[in-house]
Amino acid sequence: MRALDLIRKKRDSAELSSEEIHFLISGYTRAEIPDYQMAAWLMATWIRGMGRAERAALTEAMLHSGQILDLSSIPGRKVDKHSTGGVGDKTSLILAPIVAAGGLTVPMISGRGLGHTGGTLDKLECIPGFNVNLNLEEFIRVLRECGMGLIGQTTEIAPADKKIYALRDATSTVENIGLICASIMSKKLAEGIDALVLDVKTGSGAFMKSEEDSVRLAEVMVETGERMGKKMVALITDMNQPLGRMAGHANEVIECIDVLNGGGPADLRELSLELSAWMFYLGERTKSVDEGRKLSAEIIATGKAREKFKQGIRLQGGDERVVENPALLPKATSHVDVTSSAAGFITAIDCEALGKALATLGGGREKKEDSIDHAVGLEFHKRIGDRVEKEGSLATIHYNSGTKLAEAKARIAGSYQIGEAAPREKLPLIRRILGA
Ligand code: URA
Repeated sequence: MRALDLIRKKRDSAELSSEEIHFLISGYTRAEIPDYQMAAWLMATWIRGMGRAERAALTEAMLHSGQILDLSSIPGRKVDKHSTGGVGDKTSLILAPIVAAGGLTVPMISGRGLGHTGGTLDKLECIPGFNVNLNLEEFIRVLRECGMGLIGQTTEIAPADKKIYALRDATSTVENIGLICASIMSKKLAEGIDALVLDVKTGSGAFMKSEEDSVRLAEVMVETGERMGKKMVALITDMNQPLGRMAGHANEVIECIDVLNGGGPADLRELSLELSAWMFYLGERTKSVDEGRKLSAEIIATGKAREKFKQGIRLQGGDERVVENPALLPKATSHVDVTSSAAGFITAIDCEALGKALATLGGGREKKEDSIDHAVGLEFHKRIGDRVEKEGSLATIHYNSGTKLAEAKARIAGSYQIGEAAPREKLPLIRRILGA
């Protein structure tokens, strides 16, 4: 078999066999197939799409590129949550401590920023000392000790996704149902979990812009997990505007700490309680989702979630003092407001453009090797339906370098649509629930 022939086959719209897909994935993981051939295959696949059998073969090949964790030595249920990604989408840092404090184990293998969306690993790395690169032995030790662990794909677990994820990010091959399903499910199935809650985003800041595509993605992932014997649920949630008030690494961590302290913006708090409630329910810690919601709220109110977050940070080498003193996180040197050119009501937001503006300022990558500026960020002052005055502030940019500031400002200003009246209908945060 030759990678060259398989690229041509996909380019010409044919289906690849399971054997061919395994050849590509194992060859690329072992560095026998170079980046440029994998990139060409990814683009051909993005354009031509994948059939059901191809999707299943890809997920399986990526899952078996590494080990599948055996967490049977840790008592109790293991559950996780994964989001398909959005702007200001930061719930992992809130859910892991809530659910671990509630007695379940959360072995979370996460990703870095992808496209215009932020990544959990990059957010965690702005906590001084935090190590997302634990080896398997260390990861299991941390999980046993505190019930939560957050790491990236490693050379031992989901190594194919580790490489392909970074390559997709740099080759505009992210927004594809088969590739997203294989990426997410290969990581999650390798975690040795009993149950998985999926947060499938829909709208202008999501990879799937229409609800129909989001539902399709959710169905494919739920089916893949159930086939592997996992309890699954997918919540289709709104991403037509940023989640919470903050985007960017350090200021998202601060917003998570606010929620763990019992505050934070209403939408972020609502979604965090809903997702953790489902984790408790699928993990058989509570008899209903409603009971799960109450348990989550209680764990926050009693300070147990905040203490668990501190323990998790400490065990992964980070400076837990950031929880009491967020000033220890990276801070941008300057800030400037983006103002509205007209008075009226916010009728729509191009949320992807906001994510791109943040990347322009150094908060995202253009190439695999790029480093991230953890201190830059956006603070949003207006949501859809809000009134804004002419010259009123829409958002504040926190930045370090002014080089691309004008470009970022223009992108942000251009992403808000302002009309004479507020939209009649308020879009619900949680649109639909599938599976379970
Ligand atoms: N999250 C992932 O882990 N992979 C994707 O492809 C998209 C979101």
